Amino acid sequence: MHLRRKLVVGNWKMNGSLAQLAELGPIAEAAKEAGGVDVGICPPFTLIAPAVTRSGGLMIGAQDCHARESGAHTGCVSVAMIKEAGARAVIVGHSERRADNHETDAQVCAKAEAALAAGLIAIVCVGETEAQRKVGSHVEVVTAMLAGSLPDGWEGGELVVAYEPVWAIGTGNVATPADVTEMHAAIRAALVGRFGDKGDRIRILYGGSVKADNAAELFACPDVDGGLVGGASLTADAFVPIIAAAAKA
Ligand code: 13P
Repeated sequence: MHLRRKLVVGNWKMNGSLAQLAELGPIAEAAKEAGGVDVGICPPFTLIAPAVTRSGGLMIGAQDCHARESGAHTGCVSVAMIKEAGARAVIVGHSERRADNHETDAQVCAKAEAALAAGLIAIVCVGETEAQRKVGSHVEVVTAMLAGSLPDGWEGGELVVAYEPVWAIGTGNVATPADVTEMHAAIRAALVGRFGDKGDRIRILYGGSVKADNAAELFACPDVDGGLVGGASLTADAFVPIIAAAAKA
C-alpha cells in the first residue's frame, strides 16, 4: 500500500464546450477500470456544473478562484461559488495565471487558504522558467515559490503541489526523469520541513507535456504522485492511457 494514492488531473485551460463533455464518460469508465488512482478534470468555470452532472465519479475542479468570499471583483469567482457548482478542487498559481495576470506568491497563498478553508482540494502550482534553469537556480526558485505560495496550516481540504516547469508546458519538451526526481525530492524535503509528517502525505504532481508515451516513466520517479495534464487531457483517447500509466506506477 503506497503512502500516497496516485492522482491525475486534466487542466482543460481555455478549451472545451458542452459537446466536449462527452469525453468525460469514457474517461470516468477508464478511471474506474484502472482502479487505485484518483482522476479529475478542471474545465473552464462555465462548464463546471454541467461537468459535475456528467462526471461519472470523476473529481471536477476549477482552474482558479478569488481569495475573498464575495464583493466588487468583476469577472472573479469565489470558492463558495465553485463549491456550489459541485467542484471538489481548484488549481491555484498556474504559471499561465502568474504570467498573464501577474499573480504573486502572496496572492496564490491567499487563494490556497480560501480554497482549503472551504474544504476544496487546493492544487498549488510552482515551476521555473527556462532562463532560471539555464543558470542553475531552478531548485532555489521553486522552493522559494513554494514557501511563499503555501498557507501555514489548514483544517479541512487537501493540499496538492504541482511542479510544472514553464519551459515544459505545451512545448513537447518534457522534463527528464532526472530533472523531475531532483525537483520532487527538493519539494518533498521542503514540505516535510514545513509541515512535518503531514508534508509526507501531500501529493506532488508533475505537469508539462505529459503524454501517453512518457507518462509511465515520469510516474515511476520517486515522489511523483501523478500528473497535471493540459493538452493530453482534452480527449479520452489521449487521457485514458495516462490514467492507465498512473494506475500501474
Ligand atoms: P501541457 O500538458 O499541455 O503541457 O500543459 C501542462 C499544464 O500546464 C497543466 O496545468
